[in-house]
Amino acid sequence: MQAPILVTGGTGTLGRHVVPLLRAAGHPVRVLSRRGGTPGDGVTHVPADLLADSDLNPAVRGAATVLHLAGGAKGDDRATANLVHAARRAGVTHLVHVSVIGADRVPLAWLRSKHDAERAVADSGLPWTVLRAAQFHDLVLTMLTAMTKLPVVPVPDGLRLQPVDAAEVAARLVDLTLGAPAGLVPDLAGPATHGLGELLAGYLAATARRRLRLPVRIPGRAGRAYREGANLARPGATRGVRTWDEFLAGRLRSGAGQP
Ligand SMILES: NC(=O)c1ccc[n+]([C@@H]2O[C@H](COP(=O)([O-])OP(=O)(O)OC[C@H]3O[C@@H](n4cnc5c(N)ncnc54)[C@H](OP(=O)(O)O)[C@@H]3O)[C@@H](O)[C@H]2O)c1
Repeated sequence: MQAPILVTGGTGTLGRHVVPLLRAAGHPVRVLSRRGGTPGDGVTHVPADLLADSDLNPAVRGAATVLHLAGGAKGDDRATANLVHAARRAGVTHLVHVSVIGADRVPLAWLRSKHDAERAVADSGLPWTVLRAAQFHDLVLTMLTAMTKLPVVPVPDGLRLQPVDAAEVAARLVDLTLGAPAGLVPDLAGPATHGLGELLAGYLAATARRRLRLPVRIPGRAGRAYREGANLARPGATRGVRTWDEFLAGRLRSGAGQP
């Protein structure tokens, strides 16, 4: 019987694109998440919490390849270290992980934790691949939706983003997962760089609303890092194709992006 590919976080925004692609490539998939899910054709679920004392053996047993997508606001370093221990015990031969562009350069606790997670993978002793991706379109839309609930919207000065389509990140990760371990591969960002103010203006125009804008300055070293573009893709990055405007138009047409 073919070994399953373990996908942690396979029920999330990215995971929901990844799992069908792995299935289409003919691989059985085992998904790890806290809440689990409904089993489908060639897809099984193992509920476990990477941050708690869950037994991860049933998830990793017999899986030669692990694609680690599970992540949250906190604790990705610990979660990844726990997964690495279990993967080592199980003799995994390829550990693939998705991180965030700027994890190594923006001094924020959340990004430090992503960087420590990358290190846990690189130092695991297992063959590995890490891809750093830019913010997904979905996240940018969630952010703009929340920001525009306020009558006056604070707009951090000098903050730029390169939104990328989660489906394109998923496709790249599936290629990497089915390929040979490659270490740290070039960043993956969207096709264009946008100021947050510009994204906000476009979103307000597309949803026919007006808001007062309050320019704010992100303080400290993190603010400086953002203004210097430490969250932007490095030279040599792979660039996605689907633009933010195309994504937004699609969401608004379907009604899903309406405030
Ligand atoms: N969103 C972005 O813009 C972006 C950009 C670059 C990189 N990334 C990285 O891409 C990965 C996936 O992001 P996403 O947007 O798809 O996230 P998401 O939609 O929030 O999904 C997170 C997934 O991880 C699972 N999960 C969370 N905590 C867990 C835990 N302690 N134990 C087991 N499973 C857990 C969730 O399921 P349960 O809640 O059921 O556990 C869910 O399946 C993350 O590592 C993230 O840092 C995201």
